[in-house]
Amino acid sequence: MTHDRDTLIAAAKAAQAQAYAPYSNFHVGAALGFADGSVVTGANAENASYGLALCAETNAVARAMNEGRRGGLEAVAVVGGMHGAPGPTVTPCGRCRQVLNELAQLGETDPVIWCAGADAVLELKLSALLPHAFGPANLG
Ligand code: THU
Repeated sequence: MTHDRDTLIAAAKAAQAQAYAPYSNFHVGAALGFADGSVVTGANAENASYGLALCAETNAVARAMNEGRRGGLEAVAVVGGMHGAPGPTVTPCGRCRQVLNELAQLGETDPVIWCAGADAVLELKLSALLPHAFGPANLG
């Protein structure tokens, strides 16, 4: 494992500061750790048309793919809370699990997901969050 848990969580918290969440006030940050040691982050971006909100994890994956990344996803850190304050652990929503799975399956990794809350860090593998996932391997 290239990535240190608390360093990746700190990167997610830094990203959280850029959340645009004026409708829910729930600020989320995500950090993706890659095998080459690099980190790509994202925050949620909401919309006046509420249903169009984009999650932090999805934005981070889109950013990574737009940098040309197609694998190497080793670890993910997620932090969230009302007005950016620490609170209960936040696990990626169902859509984000699927979006993370795309990048993971492309590089044949099963990244660890660190969900950081105020008092605890929940550590899960993506395969535990999204068992029997459908992905690019199904279409090859
Ligand atoms: N949100 C995320 O960014 N990631 C998640 O995994 C859960 C939810 C965002 C979407 C919306 O902007 C706000 O949190 C409240 O749902």
